[in-house]
Amino acid sequence: MTKHYTGLIERYRDRLPVSASTRIISIGEGNTPLIQLQNIPRLIHKEVDIYVKYEGLNPTGSFKDRGMTMAVTKAVEEGSQAIVCASTGNTSASAAAYAVRAGITAFVLIPEGKIAQGKLAQTLMYGAKIIQIKDNFDAGMKIVKEIIDHAPVTLVNSVNPYRIDGQKTAAFEIIDELGDAPDYHCLPVGNAGNITAYWKGYREYAADSGKLPAVASKAPVMCGYQAAGAAPFISGKMVDNPETVATAIRIGHPQSWDYAWAAQKQSGGWFDCFTDDKILAAQKMLASFEGIFCEPASAASLAGALNDIGSGKIPEGSKIVCTLTGNGLKDPDIAISQCAEDKPVVVEATLDAVKRAILEQM
Ligand code: F0G
Repeated sequence: MTKHYTGLIERYRDRLPVSASTRIISIGEGNTPLIQLQNIPRLIHKEVDIYVKYEGLNPTGSFKDRGMTMAVTKAVEEGSQAIVCASTGNTSASAAAYAVRAGITAFVLIPEGKIAQGKLAQTLMYGAKIIQIKDNFDAGMKIVKEIIDHAPVTLVNSVNPYRIDGQKTAAFEIIDELGDAPDYHCLPVGNAGNITAYWKGYREYAADSGKLPAVASKAPVMCGYQAAGAAPFISGKMVDNPETVATAIRIGHPQSWDYAWAAQKQSGGWFDCFTDDKILAAQKMLASFEGIFCEPASAASLAGALNDIGSGKIPEGSKIVCTLTGNGLKDPDIAISQCAEDKPVVVEATLDAVKRAILEQM
């Protein structure tokens, strides 16, 4: 009998801080597809292997579920009755879902009017206690870091080390599937927890820690991409009023600042940023040439990879993985506005009218 997949903690139990008696809070996260792009490399006339790690297929539609299964498992193990986070939308949806699964309460702080519709819908459905603040993510983050001293709640943002432990399993999955680490790993950077987690996972499998047997021969070059209006890693200093259409990464004061710089330096990688237009173009390209729909922030990874392949910074012959952090359905408004010129035709409901509509568009 094949073993039923029960989530990433079970799969990577020996590399995660759980014991035999730990009650695991899981919704079947992880084990997401690693999809090789077929059309885009041909389109750009480059000999490169580009894979996308489609994290939008996690239970709540983003990579946050990897960290949340660990953070909520440990919060429950430590006796917590409530969790709290600040969020640009995905963390709040994930926290809300895992809190339900655990039977505890989730309090989420979100910037009023600045989170995508899909994320708001999920968080409402899961029944989280939503607190909208009249400021941005960074302001919310500052408050939740202080609130834990004033209320009996566990913080589940990525400053919680268990979040990083859960998220590092994405690197394990990539190596398990490819047989070794890729040459380059490209991902969007906001609060910088995910780049920190991937780097930890890659290093562990390359046995850099000295404690574990090596599974991979190397760790990849880490390439972190931001939106031009929210790019503290490019300016080298915090940004007070971040702005971007990619609301998931509308962050100016990343919490994992030092860890992200360490990942960049130790891997020989780099940070770069792109305009909203370039990010949205990559999102559309992925959907229309590969049939893969990610949210705007996620497309920063592909925008960056294509830019750096084009300039030769990432040489031909490379194996590249781009993380697609969230599902395209998270942000239907941006998707529909991107396709304003592709309005569906409206015809009479007759065989003849439909036949004409098809033949005209062949
Ligand atoms: N992509 C998506 C879709 C995200 O939701 C986030 C972060 C990132 C990329 C950046 O990851 O913060 O680890 O560098 N979203 C957080 C949230 C901030 O609240 O959902 P990071």
